[in-house]
Amino acid sequence: MTENFVFNALLVAVFASALITVLLLLFVNAPYGRHQSSGWGPTIPVRLGWVLMESPASLVFFYFYFSGAQAWQPVPLLLMLMWQLHYVHRSFIYPFQIRVKPGSRTTALVIALGSLYCGINGYLNGAYISHYADHLTQDWLTDPRFIGGVVLFAFGYFLNKQSDRILRALRQNNPGEYQIPYGLGFRWVSMPNYLGEIITWSGFALASWSLAGLSFVVFTMANLVPRALANHRWYQETFSDYPKDRRAVIPYIL
Ligand SMILES: NC(=O)c1ccc[n+]([C@@H]2O[C@H](COP(=O)([O-])OP(=O)(O)OC[C@H]3O[C@@H](n4cnc5c(N)ncnc54)[C@H](OP(=O)(O)O)[C@@H]3O)[C@@H](O)[C@H]2O)c1
Repeated sequence: MTENFVFNALLVAVFASALITVLLLLFVNAPYGRHQSSGWGPTIPVRLGWVLMESPASLVFFYFYFSGAQAWQPVPLLLMLMWQLHYVHRSFIYPFQIRVKPGSRTTALVIALGSLYCGINGYLNGAYISHYADHLTQDWLTDPRFIGGVVLFAFGYFLNKQSDRILRALRQNNPGEYQIPYGLGFRWVSMPNYLGEIITWSGFALASWSLAGLSFVVFTMANLVPRALANHRWYQETFSDYPKDRRAVIPYIL
């Protein structure tokens, strides 16, 4: 917690909305991708949706980060680079890499809610690291939490990006279809990209040792675990030869 009322209130709101999100998503699938359905209001092009949804996490973070007194200190700078390594890619490169099914659109409501969350998340983490964290001094560079967090982040980043790459390759020869993915983390789970995302932000939370970082991991899990369970069921129902020993998102467990 900080002395800034708005910051604290938003932090509490994120933890509370994570609880609401997980409860909601256990019963309703967010209407995008394979669960896109009508009746949720206007839709927009998929690539535009990704840019609008994810870019606030990059841009708002940049704004609040560079307005802080610690912006040019080594540890905050490294954390900023980790964040932006993911979010510049996710906002401005990933949307143009995905192979969108011909005619596919995405629900504007999902994009609006995602965009709101990404803006708040960018503020909480950018502001905390650069304005409020007083433990992110040069000594933190050798702290096991920082080193372990960076290693976890790198592993999660690799798993997330490689899994998304495998999914893109599936669409290369079959533009409009879903197929069973194989290789790397798909050996163990249906959604290794989600697992990678959860590990990435667990690493960031550990490296920054912050409630803002923790709120992001909790919200990511609230969002992605129910979706992974739904996608796993969808794979099992869609493909009769779907690998029996594969779990949804956590190898051998879930
Ligand atoms: N931090 C967070 O809370 C959060 C939230 C959401 C997403 N993300 C991240 O954003 C990325 C994308 O998320 P997502 O929910 O769109 O993931 P996804 O359902 O795995 O889809 C990723 C891409 O691969 C395609 N695809 C998926 N399964 C396929 C299959 N079996 N055969 C052929 N193509 C397939 C999808 O096409 P369709 O779109 O046509 O299904 C989409 O273009 C992931 O890296 C995820 O971790 C993060």
